[in-house]
Amino acid sequence: MKNIYSNIFTFNKKTLNKSIANLKKGNVVGLPTETVYGLAGNAYSKVAVQKIYNLKKRPKKNPLIVHYLNYKDAHQDVIFNPNFYKLYKKFCPGPITFVLKKKDRSKIQPSVTARLNTVAIRFPNHKTTRSILKKLNFPLAMPSANLSSGISPVNAMDVSDEFKKKIKIIINSGKSKIGIESTVVSLIGKPKILRPGIIGIKTINKFLKINIIRKSSKISSPGMLKKHYSPGIPVLLNQKRADKNSALITFGKKYKNKINYFNLSKKSDLKEAASNLYKTFRKIKKLRFKKIYVVKIPNVDAGIAINDRLKRAAN
Ligand code: TXA
Ligand code: MG
Repeated sequence: MKNIYSNIFTFNKKTLNKSIANLKKGNVVGLPTETVYGLAGNAYSKVAVQKIYNLKKRPKKNPLIVHYLNYKDAHQDVIFNPNFYKLYKKFCPGPITFVLKKKDRSKIQPSVTARLNTVAIRFPNHKTTRSILKKLNFPLAMPSANLSSGISPVNAMDVSDEFKKKIKIIINSGKSKIGIESTVVSLIGKPKILRPGIIGIKTINKFLKINIIRKSSKISSPGMLKKHYSPGIPVLLNQKRADKNSALITFGKKYKNKINYFNLSKKSDLKEAASNLYKTFRKIKKLRFKKIYVVKIPNVDAGIAINDRLKRAAN
């Protein structure tokens, strides 16, 4: 049988070197992170960044996150401030992205930041990607490895399904543990959450005061666009049941095992639910259900990030 996943590789010395060689040539590579899988390319290379936008069919005005091994590496590109150091010390490496002012002499391609004078930076906590970053003398622009406005991939097969043979190397590291994208926090002026994530507002608030964005305020992160994270079939929220052609995404132990029921967490653990969300969307789509109904998910802690993604998926 033909292996449809011939672009997926296990991580070892050989595939590490192959990934590095490709990234140095300006090619893109699919890499695992603790949140979701990313489509990585040299953030200092115009060619590499162009490939990322083209492959994803991503609007040029939606900037990319730049990934570094540690703050020392980011120092040449970004202006730090006391709030950054506070959160960095507490959460990095980890599932949090900081928007900061870009240095004038930064080598980051203007296309990475959609020509803004700010830049989003992240320090991923994943052994594979960290060992690659260690061997590079440039940071990685790395959006989630899915076509624009779709669902982020949480394993190597998802990435291959999105881009087929258009990418040559995807490093397989099993399922991304967290399963939804990093929290994005702007540290320019008063700190604001631009995209909720597993590190919640309550947790961040212990270290610095977060400004809650009002609904009417201007979109400052394009990931905040209304239509996003779409599984490609209708999604209906706050439902109690589903007809047999539709799937019901459930949460908690009160739901029975039915062929069209998909439980995000039987033990009502919101982190577990977040980690199962995209995986479940993809599964339901592959099973060819026509619609996705979703029960009400508590809007606290990781539930805030889940509801954020669900609302956009339903839009
Ligand atoms: O967990 C993650 O963050 C994953 C993994 C691969 O690291 N990456 C990811 O990237 O989710 P992406 O491109 O799918 O989402 C990046 C988000 C978008 O909402 C984008 O608009 C926002 O970060 N962003 C990037 N640069 C920004 C900037 N300068 N100002 C405001 N928002 C920015
Ligand atoms: Mg994305």
